[in-house]
Amino acid sequence: MADSGNLGHWEDLAAFHGTGNDIYYDIPALISGGMSLRPMEVDALGLATRGLGVDGLAVAHVQSHIGIDSIHLARLGAHVTAFDFSPTALARLRDLAAQCDVEIRTVQADSQELASAAFAEYQGEFDVVYATIGVVSWIADLEAWMRGAAALLRPGGRLMLLELHPLVCMPEKTDPLVVDFPYVNDGLRHYEGTGSYANPDADLTWSIEQYGWSIGETVNAAIDAGLAIVRLIEHVEAPFDPRGDILVQEDDGMFRLRLGTGANGAPAEPLPVLFTLVAERPAVA
Ligand SMILES: C[S@@+](CC[C@H](N)C(=O)[O-])C[C@H]1O[C@@H](n2cnc3c(N)ncnc32)[C@H](O)[C@@H]1O
Repeated sequence: MADSGNLGHWEDLAAFHGTGNDIYYDIPALISGGMSLRPMEVDALGLATRGLGVDGLAVAHVQSHIGIDSIHLARLGAHVTAFDFSPTALARLRDLAAQCDVEIRTVQADSQELASAAFAEYQGEFDVVYATIGVVSWIADLEAWMRGAAALLRPGGRLMLLELHPLVCMPEKTDPLVVDFPYVNDGLRHYEGTGSYANPDADLTWSIEQYGWSIGETVNAAIDAGLAIVRLIEHVEAPFDPRGDILVQEDDGMFRLRLGTGANGAPAEPLPVLFTLVAERPAVA
């Protein structure tokens, strides 16, 4: 299958993921209740909810994809609204939510537009904005994205962004090492390829535009959108490979990225692979 542009790419992935052809989206386990949020997502939500959990809270799931986490959040008692620009992703989400017997509102939106008048009815409504893994590299204007997150939050509400660390986005491959993605934003980068992060062998061909965003640029975009930083945590290990193609599972079961070697042939120190940013819309502007 061929597509052009980011929306076409995500339409293709939304139609493909969770159809039994990838290891990432285990729909039978989801429907049977055998899947849940990962510990690092639970920890980040703890920070975003002051340790109280999401039960009874209004949660905006931004860039929800087919809604696996939307369903987990709803099962934890959250009132979830899922935002994504892909109509196929939102249709899959509604179907999965029905199969899981949870209610989730869906809104088709470019997440850079959420602060605009077109989405006024959702602004100031949410206790938590939840966005995870594979979000910001698709965004040309990160300040607009952060303004959108800030606009959705009620005063005192918190953004939880659990994202690929920019360092783990940089290598195309490790053997031999090819580094082809920028650490800081230098505008649009064009890439072409095949497959999906959930199944590299998938019969999908893509032509996409992505953007590097450093940790500093991400934090500053949040500050410039009027958010107050609560916590920034960089993770040097993950319980899965969030990119699907580059981390190595080690003897303790955790996945890490090590490049080269350490001193005297010792293993290289692990590089950061994910980060958690929690930021709050101040109660008084
Ligand atoms: C990597 S997925 C998020 C994955 C999700 N954390 C999961 O585990 O399923 C990225 C999502 O961002 C959405 N997306 C990409 N660019 C967007 C934009 N400008 N506005 C809104 N959604 C966008 C895609 O449709 C896709 O569903």
